[in-house]
Amino acid sequence: MISLILQYVTIWCRYILKKANIIIGKCATHLKHSSSLAISFIIFFILLLVVINYYETRIASMTKERNNQQMLNNLNQVNEVNENNDDRMQLLPDDLIVIYNRVPKTGSTSFMGIAYELCSHNGFNVMHLNTSKNSHVMSLSDQVRFVWNVTRWTKRQPSLIHGHIAFLNFEKYGLFNPKPLYINLIRKPLDRLVSYYYFLRNGDNFRPNIVRKKQGDRRTFDQCVDLNERDCRAENLWLQIPFFCGQDSECWKPGNKWALDQAKRNLLNHYFLVGVTEYMHEFIQILEASLPQMFSGANQLYEKGTKAHLRKTFNKLRPSARTIAKIQQSRIWQMENEFYQFTLDNFNFIKDRVLIKTNQADTSNNIVYKDRGQQFFFEKIRPKN
Ligand SMILES: *[C@@H]1O[C@H](CO)[C@@H](O)[C@H](O)[C@H]1NC(C)=O
Ligand SMILES: *[C@@H]1O[C@H](CO)[C@@H](O)[C@H](O)[C@H]1NC(C)=O
Repeated sequence: MISLILQYVTIWCRYILKKANIIIGKCATHLKHSSSLAISFIIFFILLLVVINYYETRIASMTKERNNQQMLNNLNQVNEVNENNDDRMQLLPDDLIVIYNRVPKTGSTSFMGIAYELCSHNGFNVMHLNTSKNSHVMSLSDQVRFVWNVTRWTKRQPSLIHGHIAFLNFEKYGLFNPKPLYINLIRKPLDRLVSYYYFLRNGDNFRPNIVRKKQGDRRTFDQCVDLNERDCRAENLWLQIPFFCGQDSECWKPGNKWALDQAKRNLLNHYFLVGVTEYMHEFIQILEASLPQMFSGANQLYEKGTKAHLRKTFNKLRPSARTIAKIQQSRIWQMENEFYQFTLDNFNFIKDRVLIKTNQADTSNNIVYKDRGQQFFFEKIRPKN
């Protein structure tokens, strides 16, 4: 559009210029009979000519600049296409949505610290889903709002959304596209509960100045168990199963066998990757190997800043053998532990295929793994060209 207008203006200028030349020529022939009026006319026309010439050159240079810009843009597009041809990049669509429905006290803050450091470099958006009162279950109307917003908010895609909400199946809302990739991390159930118990009382180094709900309560977890108080009862262990089971009433009944089965099914059918806190390093490496568009660089950040990313609850005491034995007798612990073992098993199965052991060990003497890379190729491609 603009270039069309510019072309018109240029043509018009040329036309004026031509006319002016003719008039000047005529003027010259009549110079003999010149009067001061004629001379002033000539001067006027010369001035006009200079002005027109000036604008013509300006317009020409503007047009050239525009063309150059256009060329540059085209070049950039070509470069982008070339970059997108990179094998690893082709794996992921622009409308990628990753949902990390993090379970409290599983090391999720450490992991999210890495994601926040990576997002601008890797070109994705991160957002926290804040639900009122930190509720893990959403109302039906909120579920619809959430699902519709997230799938249609293209300006904020690709996106990584994190929040303490139970699994939500997008297909239930008639929305199959884009389907989010769920990821998660779970932890040994008793470790998680003990961590939560002391966190409520002592806080942590992440936000050390916040006064926690049970601040000032000096009772240890062991004492709490001995007194059979509310905060350390087995029902509090019932959290990782319902998080994977979902938004249904049956999921939140402690000890419900159906909920455990549903959690396992959802994990296998709807989760891209579920790791365990105890092997967070490998979890991050697998994510980087399989979703490089989002997580490339994550492993390096993890290895460089393990300490910086770690969120540590203050004054956490290990429970006694007696307390552990007592908790392990409860049916709820047994079910949560079964779910943990199921997850760990599945995680190890995935890990052994994505990563390979190196000869190195990290500072805590754990084996260090690395990406195996692509383990397949195409052959016997026909017809021959
Ligand atoms: C969620 O929002 C409330 C209200 O703005 C705020 O007080 C709270 O700290 C937020 N929660 C988190 C985990 O940031
Ligand atoms: C989703 O919600 C955000 C913030 O609440 C809003 O700015 C955005 O426009 C919404 N997107 C869509 C597609 O509804």
